[in-house]
Amino acid sequence: MTRISLLTASLLIVSAQCLAEVSSSRQTELMYFLKHDCGSCHGMTLKGGLGPALLPERLAGKPRALLVTTIMEGRQGTAMPPWKSMLSYDEASWITDQLLTGTITQTEVASESTPGALRK
Ligand code: HEC
Repeated sequence: MTRISLLTASLLIVSAQCLAEVSSSRQTELMYFLKHDCGSCHGMTLKGGLGPALLPERLAGKPRALLVTTIMEGRQGTAMPPWKSMLSYDEASWITDQLLTGTITQTEVASESTPGALRK
């Protein structure tokens, strides 16, 4: 019994570490996607447009899970669409981390790269 629960515990730790793991080539695609697709509403520099700004100072204090869920499920009754057909949960988590830390606005990677269409 103890042995089984230890095993379960270590499996849980391993899967928690895998959370939001996204390959670096996929990260480049996602940065591009964020800038162009999300940017069509939130602004190319994420300072807002039809949708609100997605800058770290504005998102600070909002629960991370709420932001990830918003990206995956959209917000009913608003223009924010669901993205779960295009993004995995890990990818939405990764994007949320970039938004919360402001990485997207600090890097030019998104504007310089032109990867192919977003694939799942
Ligand atoms: C068609 C326009 C549109 C597109 C495209 C869009 N959004 Fe949104 N988004 C919105 C609107 C409008 C809101 C505000 C919803 C509300 O009033 O609660 C929003 C809200 C959000 C929020 C919650 C912000 C907060 O302050 O709670 C996040 C996070 C977000 N969007 C991320 C994204 C990401 C990431 C993408 C690209 C994968 C994206 N959005 C694409 C329109 C859009």
